[in-house]
Amino acid sequence: MKNDLEKAQLAVLFEKLFGSTPRVFRAPGRVNLIGEHTDYNDGFVLPASVGFSTYVAIAPRSDRKLLIHSEEFPGKFEFELDRLPEKRVGAWCDYVLGVASVLRRRGHELGGANLLVHGEVPIGAGLSSSAALEVSSALALLSLDESHMPLPEVAQICREAENLFVGARVGIMDQFVSCMGRAGHGLLLDCRSLEFQFVPIPAGLVLVVCNTMVKHDLATGAYNTRREECEAGVRAFCKWDPAIRALRDVSVEMLEAHGDQLPATIRKRCTHVIRENLRTLDAARALADGDLDRVGKLMHDSHESLRDLYQVSCRELDAMVEAAQGLPGFCGGRMTGGGFGGCTVNLVRAENAEDFAKRVAERYRHATGIGAQVYLCAAEDGAQALS
Ligand code: GLA
Repeated sequence: MKNDLEKAQLAVLFEKLFGSTPRVFRAPGRVNLIGEHTDYNDGFVLPASVGFSTYVAIAPRSDRKLLIHSEEFPGKFEFELDRLPEKRVGAWCDYVLGVASVLRRRGHELGGANLLVHGEVPIGAGLSSSAALEVSSALALLSLDESHMPLPEVAQICREAENLFVGARVGIMDQFVSCMGRAGHGLLLDCRSLEFQFVPIPAGLVLVVCNTMVKHDLATGAYNTRREECEAGVRAFCKWDPAIRALRDVSVEMLEAHGDQLPATIRKRCTHVIRENLRTLDAARALADGDLDRVGKLMHDSHESLRDLYQVSCRELDAMVEAAQGLPGFCGGRMTGGGFGGCTVNLVRAENAEDFAKRVAERYRHATGIGAQVYLCAAEDGAQALS
């Protein structure tokens, strides 16, 4: 219903701007239930796609220009397809351009096109507005030559665009779940093999996403540093077992046997990743069994580990996690996404969700002086063509 409405409104606007009837594509943002900073370590994640989406309307042009417009993001961009920039231009259109450039490099003959973007995923909140824009743009651009690409491959193209064109060394989680998410389910993904399975979220639970409304500048630099620290960990463990290719391959026994020979910071980072992988598998089982006490405990441990060992939380995220404790209907919560601001995710019983939202925001304001936004979400389907 909502998607039909968005599609119709965007198509009307598109016709007014460009004078032709577009096709419309949609891709959602995501929230990660558990499995943080594990994707680029070949590990496991358990995200869900949520009801905020980015919509892209597209129609071909007769020349070889790519026009990228949006009503809510600033700037109207025009590029020559045969002279696309090699690297980011520093604007939101980078996510579209990056995808176009990777598709061309892979041999897709894109023709000229007009694109109109409507994004409702909150920006900078750690809910993957960028993945939603990449995936919806990829589906739109692929429709130009009627290419049918399996969605997991679309996810890989989008990740490549972000890694190589935009310059952010992200893992595959966000793009994958934006493509493949399923209503009512978390998606347990093995980020090495890309095998996945859907884990039903017990009926009567709401995903309450609490936006701290802060995003610290540190985020990008610290993300890359964490990746380097993990790589340093892999190099160290390789000395003890040359078969180790990623932290995914390091067992808890190995960590316990050799951990004290690692520099303290590297040991902390490795401990987080190795144990977070186990927690993620454990949480997927517990969620499927409806063992919410266990899920709650694992989410709690995940947050503490991100705060103390991986050190990607911040005062506001900790305050938001704290604010949820003990509220009626609360089953578990933690920071979600890359960290240094953004959102927490909370599993809350549906009958308590509205009240929870109000009270968590009050407590957070009391602790930090900041007015939060709180979203009551359900897991929704992944990307799709709407027309
Ligand atoms: C960001 C990245 C993901 C993942 C998370 C941390 O959202 O885009 O690939 O690494 O951080 O789990």
